[in-house]
Amino acid sequence: MDTGLRIIDTQFPLVKGGTFCSPGPFGAGKTVLQHHLSKYSSVDIVVIVACGERAGEVVEVLETFPELIDQKTGLSLMERTVMICNTSSMPVAAREASVYMGTSIAEYYRQMGLDVLLLADSTSRWAQAMREMSGRLEEIPGEEAFPAYLASRIAAFYERAGVIELKETAGEKKKTGSLVIGGTVSPAGGNFEEPVTQATLSVVGAFLALSRERSDARRYPAIDPLISWTKYQEVVGSSLEKKLPQWTHFVQMAKSMLVAGDEIAKRMEVVGEEGISMQDIITYLKSEVYEIGYLQQNAFDKEDAFCPLPRQIDLFALMQKIFSGDFSFKSHDDARVFFLDLQNRIKNLNYLPYQSEKYTKALEAIQAILKEHLEQCLEAHV
Ligand SMILES: Nc1ncnc2c1ncn2[C@@H]1O[C@H](COP(=O)(O)OP(=O)(O)OP(=O)(O)O)[C@@H](O)[C@H]1O
Ligand SMILES: [Mg+2]
Repeated sequence: MDTGLRIIDTQFPLVKGGTFCSPGPFGAGKTVLQHHLSKYSSVDIVVIVACGERAGEVVEVLETFPELIDQKTGLSLMERTVMICNTSSMPVAAREASVYMGTSIAEYYRQMGLDVLLLADSTSRWAQAMREMSGRLEEIPGEEAFPAYLASRIAAFYERAGVIELKETAGEKKKTGSLVIGGTVSPAGGNFEEPVTQATLSVVGAFLALSRERSDARRYPAIDPLISWTKYQEVVGSSLEKKLPQWTHFVQMAKSMLVAGDEIAKRMEVVGEEGISMQDIITYLKSEVYEIGYLQQNAFDKEDAFCPLPRQIDLFALMQKIFSGDFSFKSHDDARVFFLDLQNRIKNLNYLPYQSEKYTKALEAIQAILKEHLEQCLEAHV
């Protein structure tokens, strides 16, 4: 399932019929991420369950969606969107029902042979409703006073995702329908050790963890690449390899570059930049280029918000060149200046309309700079 978010499509891909969750502390960008997914995911129908969250967010969807155009059909986005509105001001019993209602509606469309995406914001509020109801029924409480059946209820909810094959009807070919379920979790204080996050983690296929540090640093989307994971990487990677050879290999390389970059950054905080070897500083700067030029995307920019797959592949091919480039510099400062310039150029490239004249020129300029520098490095080696 393409989402137009580079960090998801490349690093933590999702599939039709799969499940995912996005836990994160307050204000880390869970709702912005869900709105993004409802706007740009490559599905036919989106069901949004606003479960116990602010009414203002629902109003925003109601106001903006009719005016937005669905890329696939050219119709208004509202035509493919179903909203179950159950905001924080409404009774808790209704909140519990809203999740099931959303799922039933989503299944109904799947049965018609459509690709459906169900988004629940937030499943923590749903779990709180369960807790409140179970308390009033005087049931024996489990961990943190949630009912003992919390984990099985969460599992039963996510289990309803999947791909189905429909019966052949006269004159029509066999069709399939799919349902993706994605829920946000809002653990208090961003502590992922609490029961709702843990119960969700054990059943979903992808974990997109939003982190406070990243959102505070304005690194959006604040999905933390160091702790997030997906079980779908291989499936998606093998299909993408037809378009860009060794895709999976380079995604792994990118991930290890991020891990190494993070470790070097921490070391640098202690010993200062001078105490770091040239090779390490280059690795760190490469990871920053990937981070800022590729993983980050501004949800509020017209061009940058949605990055279609061909555009992602072009940009990733550029990243591959940077990853595998054998750079060398005279001083740390030289390295920093070079990579900062590169980073800014790539960032600006992301704000230009795809395949426009300006875009092509900017991309060519970046490639020329890289080529020139790498040739110089090669000459120096010889
Ligand atoms: N991708 C993004 N690009 C730019 N800004 C973002 C992005 N994601 C989040 N933000 C900023 O962070 C703010 C908070 O995001 P959001 O409302 O999604 O948080 P939340 O996790 O849903 O919070 P809560 O737990 O309170 O519901 C947004 O209003 C926006 O300013
Ligand atoms: Mg929210």
